[in-house]
Amino acid sequence: MARAQRFPEPEDSVADNKRGNTMTTNSEFKAWRVEEKDGEYQGSEQTLSTADLPEGEVLIRVTHSSLNYKDALSASGNKGVTRSFPHTPGIDAAGEVVESATGEPAVGSRVIVTGYDLGMNTDGGFGEYIRVPAAWCVPMPSGWDARTAMIYGTAGLTAGLCVGKLLKMGASPEQGKVAVSGASGAVGSVAIELLANLGFDVVAISGKADHADSLKDLGASEVVGRDALAEEKKPLLKPVFANAVDTVGGTPLAELLKQVQPGGSVSCCGLVAGPQLSTTVLPFILRGVNLLGVDSVEIPLPDKQAVWEKFAGEWKCPKTEASARDIGRAELDEALKAFLKGASAGKIVLDHSR
Ligand SMILES: NC(=O)c1ccc[n+]([C@@H]2O[C@H](COP(=O)([O-])OP(=O)(O)OC[C@H]3O[C@@H](n4cnc5c(N)ncnc54)[C@H](OP(=O)(O)O)[C@@H]3O)[C@@H](O)[C@H]2O)c1
Repeated sequence: MARAQRFPEPEDSVADNKRGNTMTTNSEFKAWRVEEKDGEYQGSEQTLSTADLPEGEVLIRVTHSSLNYKDALSASGNKGVTRSFPHTPGIDAAGEVVESATGEPAVGSRVIVTGYDLGMNTDGGFGEYIRVPAAWCVPMPSGWDARTAMIYGTAGLTAGLCVGKLLKMGASPEQGKVAVSGASGAVGSVAIELLANLGFDVVAISGKADHADSLKDLGASEVVGRDALAEEKKPLLKPVFANAVDTVGGTPLAELLKQVQPGGSVSCCGLVAGPQLSTTVLPFILRGVNLLGVDSVEIPLPDKQAVWEKFAGEWKCPKTEASARDIGRAELDEALKAFLKGASAGKIVLDHSR
């Protein structure tokens, strides 16, 4: 796959690798691994060997990963995400290349890997090492570090893609309010800050009344409860939103579509409220509303790289970066369970040095 840019030069800490002092393929490392016992799925720290990792062109020493809803599904034994166990989840990883069969990315270069099969059926970023195809590796934007990249992670990447699709459809602040559902979640919170930074009037839709102040701090001008998207019989409602980012799917998405102004767009990326979408065609044929699907997993590498470069530059979200919470592997179990309960908020970074 074509790459738009060279991989950055190694930092001092990995210069030894560039001089040929690379690890052997049998080094031991720590990983948070999920096993199945009597139909129950339990994660724990284990010592693995890099020889246990799957085939692949690039061996990466992972310093940081990021927590996502999909990791929680994998860790709970969801077979739609991970077919067989034992397994190391972690759909995001950032770190340094220590072995490279293709020479590009080079040993010592810093990379971000998100999506594709990482953490699903390929051992992921909850281990200190991953081995992946070269075509999964995005060069770290210059001036960025692994922790910062993982504050955004797949959730940030997805928020960036959602906002990018709205902008591509011509969304602008003058058109009116933009709604963000699942507002306190990992995708929703980045979408709020990014849209607010771009000058949009953002309405956060959240089930967590106690998060109203933090959502306003991120840039929302208004916070409304999830009941704003409760099921209504009418096929169309008063069009109060010019555009929207929906991270929850299900009934809330169907209700959101009824409330979008003529010509407006809704980026849709998630399914925490359900995978079904029960709607009429009326928002589409009477108001010309656009429903824009967003996939951050399988899209071409240059599309991911473009969003990462933006977050490292004009799309920087300082509040998201400042509010991220760092955890170690020992805290993964609790943090992942909070995701499944819809009780997580903000961005959580896994730091393998903790
Ligand atoms: N398409 C892609 O490539 C892609 C990439 C990343 C994530 N996703 C998906 O996007 C969704 C959001 O991901 P995330 O990482 O932001 O998850 P998250 O951190 O768990 O946030 C989801 C938020 O949705 C709200 N919510 C939870 N349960 C709900 C329910 N039953 N009904 C309505 N709202 C509910 C909660 O926010 P409030 O309490 O504030 O309402 C929650 O914080 C997930 O479905 C995830 O799988 C898709």
